Amino acid sequence: MFKKDFPYFKNSEIAYLDNGATTQKPQCVIDAQVEYYEKYCANTHRSNFGDANKATTNYEGARKILKEFINASGNEEIIFTKGVSESINFIASSFVSKYETVIISSLEHHSNIVPWHMQGRTIGKGLEVVKCDENLSFDFDHFEKLLSQNKNAFVSVTHISNAFGKIHDIKEITRLAHKYGAVVMIDGAQSLAHMKVDVQDLDVDFFAISAHKTFGPTGVGAIYVKKEHLADLLPYQTGGATIHEVDYHGSTLLDSPYMFEAGTQNIAGVIGFAQALEYIKHVGYENIETIEKDVYTYLDKRLREIPDIEFYNDIEDSVGSRSFNIKGLIHDDVGILVDKMKIALRVGHHCAQPIMKQLGIKGTIRVSLAFYNNYTDIDKLILALKKAISMLKD
Ligand code: ALA
Repeated sequence: MFKKDFPYFKNSEIAYLDNGATTQKPQCVIDAQVEYYEKYCANTHRSNFGDANKATTNYEGARKILKEFINASGNEEIIFTKGVSESINFIASSFVSKYETVIISSLEHHSNIVPWHMQGRTIGKGLEVVKCDENLSFDFDHFEKLLSQNKNAFVSVTHISNAFGKIHDIKEITRLAHKYGAVVMIDGAQSLAHMKVDVQDLDVDFFAISAHKTFGPTGVGAIYVKKEHLADLLPYQTGGATIHEVDYHGSTLLDSPYMFEAGTQNIAGVIGFAQALEYIKHVGYENIETIEKDVYTYLDKRLREIPDIEFYNDIEDSVGSRSFNIKGLIHDDVGILVDKMKIALRVGHHCAQPIMKQLGIKGTIRVSLAFYNNYTDIDKLILALKKAISMLKD
């Protein structure tokens, strides 16, 4: 019923089931960006003429909208970036060096693994990985053991696994981490499209946000930084609009968030992202959660009609993504065939090679939903999968 708000779906027969990779954009998000470029295209925080002031007002308005959306306590806690990867790399390089150990989960995206390798951290040498069970559930006993053995730890875990849809209990993770004096960063790339996030209630120290996975533009994201950490956070790039005073002897920086947003920002993208958040408010998380639960359950039930299907987790404590393989078939072959039948999904390792290796597989077929998906999309998928299987098994 919400597809009508998204121009991508007009006159399209495609069952778009790759929302874990990126979501479609509602018309209001596209319009907000076009309006900026057509009607008041000017730089922010610099010039003082009418359109420049309007651009600055709307850009800062977007910060306030995001701050309220995730219930941060101040605008200075919201720093715009180009996405979750940049947010994690920023915190990794500007905050984490004083921490002896980084603790991650088994379900991390490469974006929350490779930045630690770049610091020379490998397993047992500054990097620890919390085990998961055969249902991909986070092993809290192991986590507590790691926290107790590593007094100076930085915990960096995903909220929702992009590959499997598994949800981590962030409140419990922050509670335990804080008990042992650790701080916590959450990769929230997959979160806001599916569920309400309240950073104060979750008590996270850092929360990385993606706009394009939340019905907003590509190339925009943010990092929420709890106020008490701002003084310890260093800029990882500097430039125009980050400084108060410069001479050849040195520079003094502005306060957060400006000291962290060097160079001309993705102004249209930030303004578009704010519209995406307004759009989510209009739809309502109650609706989003009800629709998604229903369609996700239907997806699981219909997939189970397929002989020889292999799952890696239950649907309880999962949202958005459903990953599977079909015994005897190569996931890439299935992906190529269903694409011809107008099914958009992702096959492969989903930028999560370590967990694939742990499961002894090269990758999966991943269906990832958003609230605009419906039973018709799932029916088309099942038909296409059955056809592909009969072609590949013949
Ligand atoms: N991280 C994105 C995905 O899961 C690109 O597909």
